[in-house]
Amino acid sequence: MRSLSIQVPRTERSSRLWAGRGLIEQVPSLVPVGDYSSVAVVADAGAHEACSRLFAALPQTCSRCLVLDGGERNKDINGLGRVWQFFVEQGLDRRSLVVTVGGGALSDLVGFAAATFMRGIALLHIPTTLLAQVDASIGGKTGVNFMGIKNLLGAVMQPAGVVIDIDALASLPPRELCSGFAEILKHGLIQDAPYFELTSSRPFSAWSPEELVEVVFRSCEIKRSVVEADETEQGPRKTLNFGHTIGHAVEGYALEHGIPLTHGEAVAIGMVGEALISWRSGRISEGEFLAVRAGIGRAGLPVSLPTPFPVAELRQLLARDKKNIGSQVRWVLLDRIGACSFDLSVPEALVVEALTAIQANCP
Ligand SMILES: NC(=O)c1ccc[n+]([C@@H]2O[C@H](COP(=O)([O-])OP(=O)(O)OC[C@H]3O[C@@H](n4cnc5c(N)ncnc54)[C@H](O)[C@@H]3O)[C@@H](O)[C@H]2O)c1
Ligand SMILES: [Zn+2]
Repeated sequence: MRSLSIQVPRTERSSRLWAGRGLIEQVPSLVPVGDYSSVAVVADAGAHEACSRLFAALPQTCSRCLVLDGGERNKDINGLGRVWQFFVEQGLDRRSLVVTVGGGALSDLVGFAAATFMRGIALLHIPTTLLAQVDASIGGKTGVNFMGIKNLLGAVMQPAGVVIDIDALASLPPRELCSGFAEILKHGLIQDAPYFELTSSRPFSAWSPEELVEVVFRSCEIKRSVVEADETEQGPRKTLNFGHTIGHAVEGYALEHGIPLTHGEAVAIGMVGEALISWRSGRISEGEFLAVRAGIGRAGLPVSLPTPFPVAELRQLLARDKKNIGSQVRWVLLDRIGACSFDLSVPEALVVEALTAIQANCP
């Protein structure tokens, strides 16, 4: 088992994170559940195995559970209402603990409910998707979608703990694993070249659970370093958006046109496009760009779009990015493999070149 703590300047208490196998059974010994006045669990229907394992391990008194469908569908005001209502019905107070078991959509929703209930009650995440394990459960960002805009309503509240059990991933479809793996590759690209080399050395599906514990833990360390330096994304936390500027545009277009493309696939393609901009603007060499693209491909993620996406429409979607300042798109670009800079402007011609280069069948 591996463990670390996360300490942000704003709060006195640090969050504790554990990663390993069979950890759900160990929750009662890792987390002092008896110290809380009550414990309420909100579980993702997709994570029913993890949830049953948790209930088998918890003391009888902690048997309150709300099960919600996972994914984006419930991550809205209605879902939020259901969670708040459950908290009230369970009589939660300021000394209660809320436990989430599920993917990132569920932990964002329930995290926001917990952050706002009685101005914030303690939260423990048990993430059950790879993306939630290396990304969504770490760093305290919570939120729900509103009026079709993703994460429009949100709060930052650090969880008291995060228990990452790699065994929970056993039931996860490969395309869901892919989403988390794109973030893992991103962590190497922005901060740790040997880690990128390691994680891009073979297909993401070829890692054993024991190896995944080490990989996931390294990603958690990288995310921790960024969050501790900048909890509210005024500066270095923006580097986590590498690949996401083009990635979100591509994901948005695919969603609007019913083209199946996961977040991880979109981010993988986005990282190729943004690495190309990094090369063409003189920050990295052509050799480094080719190494990035080859590595992403070797890991089993796409390096170009599945069908042609119109460049002009992608360009318009980029202009709507939440990270923009006014109409200016702000980019995260590589300075080398393992280092990057943020808040950069890019000439229009280079953006068009990158959006063209990621098209289907482009060499
Ligand atoms: N808070 C943050 O910092 C942060 C960071 C990144 C992403 N996010 C958010 O995370 C969400 C995406 O999270 P995600 O990729 O985990 O997807 P998800 O939460 O939408 O889950 C994907 C699907 O997997 C199912 N599932 C969950 N665990 C499973 C398991 N063990 N076996 C089988 N199926 C399982 C869910 O029911 C769902 O249908 C987005 O809403 C995104 O905005 C938040
Ligand atoms: Zn992402």
